[in-house]
Amino acid sequence: MRLWRSAPRTSRESPSFSAVEPSNAALQRGAVVLAAKGVSKSFSGVWALQDVDFELKCGEVHALMGENGAGKSTLMKILAGVHSDYIGEISVAGRATTFAGVRDAELAGVAIIHQELNLVPELSVAENMFLGREPLIAGLIVDRRRIVAVARDLLRRLNIAIDPESRVGALRVGEQQLVEIAKALSLDTRILIMDEPTSALSSSECETLFKVVRQLAASGVAIIYTSHRLDEVMALADRVTVLRDGRHVLTAPVAEISRERIISAMVGRDVATSSRNAAAVAAPPILSVKDLTFDVVTSRGWRRVLHGVNFEVRRGEVFGIGGLLGSGRTEIVEAIFGAGRGWRGGAISIDGELATINSPADAYRLGIALVTEDRKTRGLHLASTIRDNVALPSVGAMSRFGLRAFAREAALAADVVQRLSVRCTGVDQVVSNLSGGNQQKIVIGKWLATEPRVLLLDEPTRGIDVGAKQEIYQLIFKLAAEGLAIVVVSSELPELLLLSDRVLVMCEGRQTGILRRGEATQEAVMRLAAPGGVDDFRKMPA
Ligand SMILES: Nc1ncnc2c1ncn2[C@@H]1O[C@H](COP(=O)(O)OP(=O)(O)OP(=O)(O)O)[C@@H](O)[C@H]1O
Ligand SMILES: [Mg+2]
Repeated sequence: MRLWRSAPRTSRESPSFSAVEPSNAALQRGAVVLAAKGVSKSFSGVWALQDVDFELKCGEVHALMGENGAGKSTLMKILAGVHSDYIGEISVAGRATTFAGVRDAELAGVAIIHQELNLVPELSVAENMFLGREPLIAGLIVDRRRIVAVARDLLRRLNIAIDPESRVGALRVGEQQLVEIAKALSLDTRILIMDEPTSALSSSECETLFKVVRQLAASGVAIIYTSHRLDEVMALADRVTVLRDGRHVLTAPVAEISRERIISAMVGRDVATSSRNAAAVAAPPILSVKDLTFDVVTSRGWRRVLHGVNFEVRRGEVFGIGGLLGSGRTEIVEAIFGAGRGWRGGAISIDGELATINSPADAYRLGIALVTEDRKTRGLHLASTIRDNVALPSVGAMSRFGLRAFAREAALAADVVQRLSVRCTGVDQVVSNLSGGNQQKIVIGKWLATEPRVLLLDEPTRGIDVGAKQEIYQLIFKLAAEGLAIVVVSSELPELLLLSDRVLVMCEGRQTGILRRGEATQEAVMRLAAPGGVDDFRKMPA
């Protein structure tokens, strides 16, 4: 048994990037390395893909676009051996192939990085990279030194400044994403499939990732890439394929196609752009935050992450919070919701009354809801149905004599599905089977079902497609018009400016200003967010 397939060579032997050179030598640049012909796939009788043709060429970055639920992840999973029960034909380098599983695909040079990361947080970077295929000493003991040395070499070759011995759980999401890539490349990968790799990255992390992707493509790796960020795709990809409702709609070189054409191919109609007319003027404040501080425990003792934040949100107002990654944006909403781990100081009042919020349960009782940034770990019970997820925060209110009101729960869930246009087979579908964007809609929906007075939204459209994004914007405006006080944290400037009546800007845990609609231009927000001139905002529209 060979436990070690492809020890990468040292950089002295190969000055340019070449982890994949040997196996690609046989293939010409531009030759078709991977193809799907007439591929269909259903989940319990519902078609996720129908008769899809797809071709990937050696050395290209091929973007796969489509609305939430269009079938992108499903196609990627079929190509990577995750689903083997499909109809149609897959071929690698012109030869028809069936992958019995992921391992099979890996042996053929295909690796996938999933939409939700799959690393073990307790293990080190190097251990994660070689998990399940560790090189052994005398066939018995894991050769740790070798793992670390090879991992270090691979990371350095990709220009990734991460210590192979650091624990993955201690890394930022962006760094974890880079570790996933390094891991995929340690497998002698010729075809790299990346499912929304940038949805949780800051723009400087995106830049690092793009550099790596370009370098890989230049060395002959073929890359399939999905993202809901059109500008990113236009800048990075050579060709784009659009899926709609599980069908192939178009494939074209990016240089020959406009943004508008891609969007209309994705949604099959013109997308209305949201705008907001009337802002709340003299309504009374519902949420008022005074001298809010937050201290967290770190390995080096206490650290203050919020230094005296002050603001009020009125009935019907959408209040934005902007700032660079790590500026304290998320900490504000977590502190209000009683969710962050640490010590809160200052005062929070709801409807003019001083509130005691020591836990999310307290916040919920006061009519505050928080839609978290991280849906995988905190937003959803992935193994439960839509109905159970939607009903979860409201179960107490709906049950009688301790009995759950199933019919009411189902009606509530059906209402959420309809209001937010969730693509699903019904309210009894398990949430893990929904596409990423539709999962996000369920997170928002379950909190809306609690009929809150104050709605805190942390990155509400992360991973959401253009069409659904507009639907969520409309929904936010509608909820504001119904009298909710809404706080939105967003790292996407156009989104923040579009949504907010006022924008509070944070810089390194301090509030640097509050701008009204009209004053809040990209430049004004950036000046307050990054006095040092660091540009870490996404300025991309859509
Ligand atoms: N394991 C599964 N069981 C049942 N249905 C599934 C499963 N996986 C996906 N689906 C369904 O297949 C369809 C396509 O989903 P897929 O995840 O491929 O979409 P996507 O294009 O990747 O969307 P997103 O942009 O939201 O990630 C959706 O309707 C989804 O609900
Ligand atoms: Mg997906």
